[in-house]
Amino acid sequence: MKDIKWIHNRRSRGSQAKVPTEFFNEDETKTVRDFHRSFPGYVETPLRSLPNLANYLGVAGMYVKDESPRFGLNAFKALGGSYAIGRYLASRLNMDGRNLSFEKLRLEVAKNLPGRITFTTATDGNHGRGVAWAAWQFDQNAVVYLPKGTSKIRLDNIKATGAEALITDQNYDDTVRMVAQKAKDSGWVIVQDTAWEGYEEIPAWVMQGYTTMAAEALEQLQGFGQDSPSHVFVQAGVGSLPAAVQGYFTARYKDARPKVIVVEPDKADCMFKSALAGDGKPRKITGNMDTIMAGLACGEPNPVAWQLLFDYTDMFISCPDYVAARGMRVLGNPLGSDPRVISGESGAVTTGIVKEILQREDLQEIKDCLELDSNSKILVFSTEGDTDPANYRRIVWDGVL
Ligand SMILES: Cc1ncc(COP(=O)(O)O)c(C=O)c1O
Repeated sequence: MKDIKWIHNRRSRGSQAKVPTEFFNEDETKTVRDFHRSFPGYVETPLRSLPNLANYLGVAGMYVKDESPRFGLNAFKALGGSYAIGRYLASRLNMDGRNLSFEKLRLEVAKNLPGRITFTTATDGNHGRGVAWAAWQFDQNAVVYLPKGTSKIRLDNIKATGAEALITDQNYDDTVRMVAQKAKDSGWVIVQDTAWEGYEEIPAWVMQGYTTMAAEALEQLQGFGQDSPSHVFVQAGVGSLPAAVQGYFTARYKDARPKVIVVEPDKADCMFKSALAGDGKPRKITGNMDTIMAGLACGEPNPVAWQLLFDYTDMFISCPDYVAARGMRVLGNPLGSDPRVISGESGAVTTGIVKEILQREDLQEIKDCLELDSNSKILVFSTEGDTDPANYRRIVWDGVL
């Protein structure tokens, strides 16, 4: 049996009706980026070019967007939570959500919001840390729930922002359901990074928030003298992140968009399973989803994100944990003068899979399908740094996996 499973989604390049992507067009993404830029702690995260790795793997370019410095939180996720909270507060205050700045919003909140709002969410760690941080930026409360098995350091990092945080005895998807109910009962506002029927507006803002990362990456790539990547590898949990990336490149380049490849852990490969079913309906995974890629351990696709991925994504890949571990080691031990990237389990899986595909004979078919060759310019997102430092060392120093 093959340990790396993949499905080439041929309909992505077909001419059938597809969901629109205006939601991710230039105007929308500029609004989002301007909002993020107005935060006092905003700096672009670096796009690292790894020419020696590219040469070693036989492609023209390998570019890694390093999200570890994002707002000092070691992951990209706060982009979504901050934009969603910003838009939510603006709507409560009847402000124009399309022309928001951090300072203006903070002033209005202080002046006109009658009492503090409690924002709540369920999280593997990164999203909740982003929500807690954003709530704190606007002097609001946050209560964050983490699924069973979450490491203590993730819990402590959330508490460090002043939020209340606790670990439940349920998996991620059940924790989401529990929090949705709790928010209803307590009058709290749930800021979840996934959608369900009747709860779509906030998750849509979360997805839009992620486009800042894609927009920065493209601009930085152009700074390296490239028009566009030919291939984008992006990891999926519930699918909001890859849908934002796919949406961004599709809105911008239409049919000339780069090939997008969605990568998941095999223990939580709900996108892959949904693609395999082939009827456009999302499929769920249940149980413990025991993977080192904690950020990707989600069994239920965001249905809105899934629709976009089903329509436009070129390939879905499901892979074992060792692929992420290899990615972490490759990025942490660069070739020659290539820069070093500290990438956590969920961040490194895309680099790991690129290496496997380009080096393994048994994966030649993937290479052929994706037309990966010496002209390819590959973009990957290292979506987190060492968010669990003890585990990072176990993998990178001690060679676990
Ligand atoms: C580090 C990291 N990368 C990627 C993702 C995947 O994002 P999504 O769940 O929106 O697909 C997550 C989700 O929490 C994450 O924490």
